[in-house]
Amino acid sequence: MVKHRKSNLQVKHSNTSDASGSSSENTKPRSPIVTVWKTTLGVLCLIIAVYIGTLGYLETRVNTPFDGDKAVQDSGLSVPDRYWGTYRPGVYFGLKNREPRSPVFGMMWYELAAATHKGIRHWCDQNDNLPSYGWIRHDGFTFGEQTISDPPHNIVTTFIKTPGGEHGGHWTARINVTSVDKLNAAFVLIWYGALDEVHLVPHQGKLLHTSYADAHAPGLHLLKEKYYSLLKVEKHPAFGRLAVIGGDDELNDKEKEVNFVPIQMLVETPFVLDVVYTTEDLPTPPLKGEEYTKVLEQKRTSFDTRFEEEFKLKEKGYTETDAAIAKAAMSNMIGGIGYFYGTSRVQSRYTREPVPYWKAPLYTGVPSRSFFPRGFLWDEGFHGLLIGRWSPDIQMDIAAHWLDLINVEGWIPREQILGSEALARVPKEFVVQSNAAANPPMLLIQIANMVKRRPHIFQRDSKHRRTLDRMFPRLQAWYNWFLNSQKGAEPTSYRWRGREEDGLQLNPKTLTSGLDDYPRASHPSNIERHVDLRCWMYAAADAMTTIADMLQRDTSKFEAIRDQLGDEELLNELHWSSHTNTYADYGLHTDGVKLVRQVGKTPAEGSKVVRSVTSPPQEKLVTSAFGYISLFPMLLKVLKPSSEKLGKILEVLDKPELLWSPYGLRSLSKSAPLYMKRNTEHDPPYWRGQVWININYLAVSALKHYAGTGGPHAARAQQLHTRLKANLVGNIISQYKKTGYLWEQYSDQDGRGSGCKPFTGWTALFVLMMADEY
Ligand SMILES: *[C@@H]1O[C@H](CO)[C@@H](O)[C@H](O)[C@H]1NC(C)=O
Repeated sequence: MVKHRKSNLQVKHSNTSDASGSSSENTKPRSPIVTVWKTTLGVLCLIIAVYIGTLGYLETRVNTPFDGDKAVQDSGLSVPDRYWGTYRPGVYFGLKNREPRSPVFGMMWYELAAATHKGIRHWCDQNDNLPSYGWIRHDGFTFGEQTISDPPHNIVTTFIKTPGGEHGGHWTARINVTSVDKLNAAFVLIWYGALDEVHLVPHQGKLLHTSYADAHAPGLHLLKEKYYSLLKVEKHPAFGRLAVIGGDDELNDKEKEVNFVPIQMLVETPFVLDVVYTTEDLPTPPLKGEEYTKVLEQKRTSFDTRFEEEFKLKEKGYTETDAAIAKAAMSNMIGGIGYFYGTSRVQSRYTREPVPYWKAPLYTGVPSRSFFPRGFLWDEGFHGLLIGRWSPDIQMDIAAHWLDLINVEGWIPREQILGSEALARVPKEFVVQSNAAANPPMLLIQIANMVKRRPHIFQRDSKHRRTLDRMFPRLQAWYNWFLNSQKGAEPTSYRWRGREEDGLQLNPKTLTSGLDDYPRASHPSNIERHVDLRCWMYAAADAMTTIADMLQRDTSKFEAIRDQLGDEELLNELHWSSHTNTYADYGLHTDGVKLVRQVGKTPAEGSKVVRSVTSPPQEKLVTSAFGYISLFPMLLKVLKPSSEKLGKILEVLDKPELLWSPYGLRSLSKSAPLYMKRNTEHDPPYWRGQVWININYLAVSALKHYAGTGGPHAARAQQLHTRLKANLVGNIISQYKKTGYLWEQYSDQDGRGSGCKPFTGWTALFVLMMADEY
């Protein structure tokens, strides 16, 4: 791909020089004016040709892969222990393997008596209002156990894999349905997938009626719709009228192949079904029945033992219940790992329209199985801290997949919407990814964190060392892309790209920073500089130094940038306000903004809410937006332990009228003008006061760091660390007990979970806080 495009470019260049060359070969005498005219035309042609050639070249850069060895070398059957898995995090229970065109298996269900108002359950959906669901144990390799509560039914889904053989081995999935209040409740269970490889073995309970069909579904994103279309009502002696699956008329069309085989089972609870998938080339038969029950019990015990060995939560004094919640959090993070395959839609300033990225796989965790069941770049860095703690194999593979998505420019699209199932869940306006858009380099920092904490797994000639070696040029390209593309106007300053004023937003969003609506300069401009990004660049340079050092490569360039960005005097010149004693962004700013309702000129136009600017903006530090970004020089450990400014930050950190709440640090100070303000008529506050766990994790981790490095602020840092951690862990666990979920964010007012649920992405980092490991 790359080579082809490069040679295209060369062809165009040589064509143009040929053209101008042939005109000068003409030796016939001619009048000067003609010569000038010809020369001008020649030069013009040359310019146009070069321009078009360059344009074509620039146009293709956005979707040209980085040239070099792929970081992922082993995939598919060459990673047998992770071949099959629950890699469809967006459905309640589904399995597939790590191949681009894997068959998919999955479960749907409905309650016979309530079918009309509750509908069929399939995709994890907040509107299903399930009191709770999620993996309570999952090791990422061979076994998992999930509980789903859908009153009056409880469903337990488990699976055990037997890897090996030439075709990926066996697996058995068990679906165990019980009723809470009344026994013998009729329940409809649907299993779909490829019929010839699975056997359904009812293990316990009564199977009242079965129907199935060979069908053709137009795509993975329409399975439930297809299912509905197959249902036909029949008379049944016991149930009166019963919806059963009938034949698919679409198959009359010879072009359409069978790709969807749903089996509907009307059962009486309690009911236990074993779904046995077998490739029959293993010496051991697949598990089922009592044998499965026995092995499941062993898997549970050994998982629990290993979890305690790794995190030592009981040893640290946490109760059995709290430790079980931590276990469920980590399990749902691991159980949320998906395998996606497809193309993103991307755009650069040189492409007239969005173009497809190259087709690629992505093995990644997801922030939320219901709301964000796909990969997000900066989230994945945070996820990796916990996933990598459980299994470096899994995390190195995830990071490698992400790094293989880097293009020749050094850019990685920040949101990955791969495949029709993923695409169906994203509003159109968010699908296209711009190559000007960054997202914090947390993944780079996570990799360096792993290198620091576990140097032994990166020893010479080890598997992870080789992977890290292949990652290195990609990491370096990504890092350089940041330094160049997000550079600010002043030396050593940085600016997030992608802010746009539209006259509607109270404060134009900075989606790329990850902190969406966190207030920045009111009037986006090129003079802007962002303190959080400058600190990310420090941490990135530090991470590159760590990684290069491990690989025994030249660290000097990375160290030079790290030391420059770590120079406190430079940082203070750009971002410190001695007026408010805080760090802040700089830009064209006024606090005089508000949302007002504007009435249209004609009644038909109606009215809309727009932004009104009541006092003109000035170039200044945006000190009124005190909050998370003001803490970044501490959060990312830019400040030296002896720093006077660190002292100032720690001094006010526990002020309840600013950022401290009994539930963790709030994102924006109560004193800030935009605290908990809507951004538009339709946009409620998001990063304007709510407590977010990823940033709190950075805070807890930084406090621990400063507590351990000595210096005048160590005692204060230690004390804040203990209190902040207790607040966070206490509230997350208490909300889980109350609501059955981990949440996207928590209210700074009463600690209540808000945003989407379950959000077992970075919220699950409280497990590392409990373990006291950062
Ligand atoms: C099914 O689930 C119930 C309730 O969790 C449990 O008591 C029972 O042992 C399970 N049965 C099997 C065969 O796994």
